Amino acid sequence: MADLWWWMLALGVAVFVVFCVALALALWRRRSQSGSEGGADNRRPGRWIVWGGVVMPVLVLTLVFGLTVRAMTATPGEVPPDALAVEVVGHQWWYEVRYPESGVVTANELHLPVDRPVALTLTSADVIHSFWVPELGGKMDLLPERPNTLVLEAEQSGEYLSRCAEFCGIQHTKMVMQVVAEPAGEFEGWIADRTRPPAAPPAGPAAQGREVFAGAGCASCHAIQGTDAAGTSGPDLTHLASRSTLGAGTVPNTGDRLREWITDPHAVKEGVKMPGAELDDEQMDALLAYLATLR
Ligand code: CUA
Repeated sequence: MADLWWWMLALGVAVFVVFCVALALALWRRRSQSGSEGGADNRRPGRWIVWGGVVMPVLVLTLVFGLTVRAMTATPGEVPPDALAVEVVGHQWWYEVRYPESGVVTANELHLPVDRPVALTLTSADVIHSFWVPELGGKMDLLPERPNTLVLEAEQSGEYLSRCAEFCGIQHTKMVMQVVAEPAGEFEGWIADRTRPPAAPPAGPAAQGREVFAGAGCASCHAIQGTDAAGTSGPDLTHLASRSTLGAGTVPNTGDRLREWITDPHAVKEGVKMPGAELDDEQMDALLAYLATLR
């Protein structure tokens, strides 16, 4: 795809240069002839139309067509047998990420091993979104009820961002997923950490916060592995405290921001489906203490 892009850029530049030279020559000749009336060059206008309007476009487009067909046949159409399967589900306005082999479920973060193909199955729970990580070369729509498969392979470690690339509502720009490509060993370690539910909080505010979480209705939308919370319409919160942002890249994941988010999510990200929680200060402190243990 990158080769095809460079070819198209080179051909576009060549055509543009030819056009600019022709335009400059025409203007220069017109100016130098402006003294002699009726001296416009009408000798062979048809030749320019045939060469510039027919022959050159046919040649360039035929070449681009051939290069496109070559790129299409070279793009893997089937999932390589050693590919890591990952499911990405778009929501207004966040990403659900599932690793079916290990059962890990997370949100707004996608970890990938380097030098191994990754087969992403892309779908949507509501409207059309689009998965796009420019550095990894892939862009594909997340469609409701019709899974798309995108095979990617990261060649070097790094942190990238996937920005939703299809307008999907008022918070389309705040639909950002952190993508981390890392060596296989680190990736396996990340998966292993996420297959272990967080330890039950020690007695105190955090344990009290767990009761607040259960009592305030949070569990009807959010899941926390190892607890009764098993809602699926909102992001899985099992390892919430290890994430860098809240609201799919909207604000940094700090205690103060989390407090604002839970109190009035719409003030932070207008239009989100999450309702504000009506909690007194003591309940909120306890809830935040509990959420901070979710690592
Ligand atoms: Cu999701 Cu734009």
